[in-house]
Amino acid sequence: MGNQSEVRKNFGQRASNYRLSNTHGNPIDLERMVNLLKPQSDAIALDVATGGGHTAIALASCVNKVVAIDITPEMLAEAEVASKQSDINNIVVQIEDVHNLNFPDGQFDIVASRFAAHHFFDVKKAVREMCRVLKPGGKLYILDCSVFNGDETEKEINRIELLRDSSHQCSYSPRQWNHILNKLPLTIQYTSLLKEQYKLPQWFDRMGTSPKNQQEIFRILNNLSEDSKVLYHFGDDYITTYRYEILAIKV
Ligand SMILES: C[S@@+](CC[C@H](N)C(=O)[O-])C[C@H]1O[C@@H](n2cnc3c(N)ncnc32)[C@H](O)[C@@H]1O
Repeated sequence: MGNQSEVRKNFGQRASNYRLSNTHGNPIDLERMVNLLKPQSDAIALDVATGGGHTAIALASCVNKVVAIDITPEMLAEAEVASKQSDINNIVVQIEDVHNLNFPDGQFDIVASRFAAHHFFDVKKAVREMCRVLKPGGKLYILDCSVFNGDETEKEINRIELLRDSSHQCSYSPRQWNHILNKLPLTIQYTSLLKEQYKLPQWFDRMGTSPKNQQEIFRILNNLSEDSKVLYHFGDDYITTYRYEILAIKV
């Protein structure tokens, strides 16, 4: 049993929040992705879990065509609005579940996915599918919420994420990502753990986190060990978070 209906419910109700989100549309992040991928102008790219379309739009201006997939129809509608607003007409949107992609093997030059893997109920299967549809020599780019390596952070920070968003599955630490990826025909070219801050209340508002769950999140943060508190400092208007960025080449 997957979490697809929870994902569709949570994102379907708040789709426009994601199109308008400064976090997802951060131009520095998007430029860094494009610089890492160095897309060729004739490339065909797949944006997995496109959400409000930020990744697809950033890639579309550099490549021949982007196929943008998502499991939530309302999100694809937002991605279409965003691409029209940006005057982009080489993005095709399609409803797909990353766990069973309806594409032949070796179809894409680039497969990119941002801020989504933590929702995939079977991340190994999802990444295997992303790898399958890549051409040999093609590039896989993943950026996602992550946690510091360690039993406490891997458990407690994921409890916080789940309290905020009931469709959350897991934010993987670098060591967990390594374990997921090293089973696949991929050469890892680059990884980076990036420290960020979530602005409050926007982070809660985007998912409609209840006041009770917000309180529980602060209780967990207050009860972290001293070492973890240094890594995850917080205030009334921010929480520290980490992201993991990966570039890999299909062998
Ligand atoms: C935070 S949004 C993605 C943001 C977007 N990639 C960007 O760069 O701004 C997460 C998206 O993952 C999608 N999603 C979650 N599980 C999925 C699945 N199994 N298959 C496809 N899309 C999925 C959700 O519908 C949602 O639109």
